[in-house]
Amino acid sequence: MINIAFPKGRLGKKVYALFEKAGFSWPGMTDDNRKLVFTHGDMRAFWVKPFDVPVYVERGTADIGVAGKDILLERSPDVYELLDLKAGACSMAVAAPQGFRDNSSDTLRVATEFPNIARKYFASQGRDIDIITLRGSLELAPILGLSDVIVDIVETGTTLRENNLCVIDRFQSLSARLIANKSSYKFKEDVISMIIRRLAVD
Ligand code: PRP
Repeated sequence: MINIAFPKGRLGKKVYALFEKAGFSWPGMTDDNRKLVFTHGDMRAFWVKPFDVPVYVERGTADIGVAGKDILLERSPDVYELLDLKAGACSMAVAAPQGFRDNSSDTLRVATEFPNIARKYFASQGRDIDIITLRGSLELAPILGLSDVIVDIVETGTTLRENNLCVIDRFQSLSARLIANKSSYKFKEDVISMIIRRLAVD
């Protein structure tokens, strides 16, 4: 049996379509219901919260899984990153209200869902920051004065534009990655390699 963790939500739908195209599918998996675990032959697939995929894979509950590069950079799990699936291509960026000027004598207040990524980025710039960790709708923070800037995912840029924010620095490309548990990769290498081969064909 091989266990595969899929990220629930927008990215999950795109990634599941890639698996289907590669010949892997689990009946009912994209139906509108609350079911989480699906078995087909000797493959079991389950939906987990995107941030939790590396947890399931690192602990071996899932042999492989799909996680956004953003989540891998944020959590630094001890897993193998096997393949860039190219799905959900977007960037990690610093954004601020139109006309924002950074006053480097003040500590910069940064709202983000990705405190480790933000800390590392601003450390590389030698900039003092105060991190405010939020769970989504980050655009609100600078609008309401909770933060000066945000570090967030930008895909089309629509969310920023509609909230009068602009990109200051797009510093990291992101996309979905296939990851594997290290010992699963050793003991189930045949089947994992077969999955990679089929997914890697365009
Ligand atoms: C993400 C991100 C931005 C938006 C960017 O949010 O946090 O808000 O997508 O996409 P765009 O550049 O195409 O507008 P998501 O929809 O995942 O929800 P969240 O705000 O709850 O994180």
